[in-house]
Amino acid sequence: MQTKFLLEESQMPKYWYNLQADLPEPLPAVLHPGTQQPVGPSDLEPLFPMALIEQEVTTEREIEIPEPVRDVYNLWRPAPLYRAHRLEKALGTPAKIFYKYEGVSPAGSHKPNTAIPQAFYNREAGIRTLTTETGAGQWGTSLSFAGSLFDIDVTVFQVRVSYNQKPYRRAVMETYGAKCVASPSELTEFGRKVLAETPDHTGSLGIAISEAVELAVKDPNTKYALGSVLNHVLLHQSIIGLEAMQQMEMADCWPDVIVGCTGGGSNFAGIAFPFMGHALRGGEKSRIVAVEPSACPTLTRGKYAYDYGDTAHMTPLTKMHTLGSGFTPPGFHAGGLRYHGMAPLVSHAKELGLFDAVSYTQRECFEAGVLFARNEGIVPAPEANHAVKGAIDEALRCKREGKEEVILFNLCGHGHFDMAAYTSYFAGELSDHEYDEQELAMALSGLPSVNA
Ligand SMILES: Cc1ncc(COP(=O)(O)O)c(C=O)c1O
Repeated sequence: MQTKFLLEESQMPKYWYNLQADLPEPLPAVLHPGTQQPVGPSDLEPLFPMALIEQEVTTEREIEIPEPVRDVYNLWRPAPLYRAHRLEKALGTPAKIFYKYEGVSPAGSHKPNTAIPQAFYNREAGIRTLTTETGAGQWGTSLSFAGSLFDIDVTVFQVRVSYNQKPYRRAVMETYGAKCVASPSELTEFGRKVLAETPDHTGSLGIAISEAVELAVKDPNTKYALGSVLNHVLLHQSIIGLEAMQQMEMADCWPDVIVGCTGGGSNFAGIAFPFMGHALRGGEKSRIVAVEPSACPTLTRGKYAYDYGDTAHMTPLTKMHTLGSGFTPPGFHAGGLRYHGMAPLVSHAKELGLFDAVSYTQRECFEAGVLFARNEGIVPAPEANHAVKGAIDEALRCKREGKEEVILFNLCGHGHFDMAAYTSYFAGELSDHEYDEQELAMALSGLPSVNA
């Protein structure tokens, strides 16, 4: 009864996979926020080094992972694939459940898979200061870790509600040498404007992005790093699925169903896109399911439209599933899933019918996470609980239908810094939030009108 499927360091992929190479239709253009014309590389240069801008637009299928990046990846990669024998037994399902565990990274999630190359390419371009935002704190921790390895100063704007919920995340960022600021903050013009209007604003990823972008735009020696959404981030995360493909072969199985949770879309893309590309090139097809919170239902109830990535409207316009850039989701505990938009590549794949999306409320996700922890031992991050819930529902469907399907899901992070959320769950203090049509329509009414 094999439980772990492990790859040697030498078997770690040397190339990332780019879904753009296999798409039947190309991605819609990215537009300049002022002119609404397609952006060129020079428009993005104040924010990102050229190597990352090139990765943003390339349609090459394979991009080599630089050796210094692979050297750092070796600290925790290849990440293990587990067969969830005990969970299967507890559910009484004939399905085989596998999970790829990304919580083995130093930061505790998949986020260092892109933090490391982003810091590497910035350092190669001579950049010594990076700004970023963080929701749950996982991304901020990861970029802080990467900054410490590549000698880059990192300033992290953490969404205030998470900053207050998770003081130890800030302590980890500071341990790596970064500066962590609650957003909205007094450090930026936009932060001051938000606080003047709403002094007790709980913050949002959209606001934190605006603050981080503002600092980068004002200083030519500072660049900005984003932990999700962008094409190059999804590219870096493809290492998850590429490893999982090798590991599924080791287990002599191929997934019928693949499940991932979606905030900005990066860990979902990481596990799913290599399999999606395999199917687009004529290989076996897996059913792919994205799971999102009902309190921030971007894919299931958002609109596919051009929108800004941030609240101050400084970022380019991308076509994506969005709830409107002014949307402030409630302070539920899966902080990493509280983003108003979705990665354009994930949104485009959804429009092409390449995967399904479902949403769940936070309490049912915590219930699933607790069942998982009591059988498999790992306490998942609240974000990852959404994928656990999705996988469990698929396994229960297999039980009802008497099907022996193979289910693969991405356990994208552990929840060791989220124990206050678990405590609130056990105390019965968590509430569920579903958006009513009126609230949703209000949030969407501010979408920019774009003639594209
Ligand atoms: C553990 C974890 N999972 C998921 C996410 C959501 O991001 P993404 O959809 O880009 O993977 C986050 C974001 O902070 C996270 O920390």
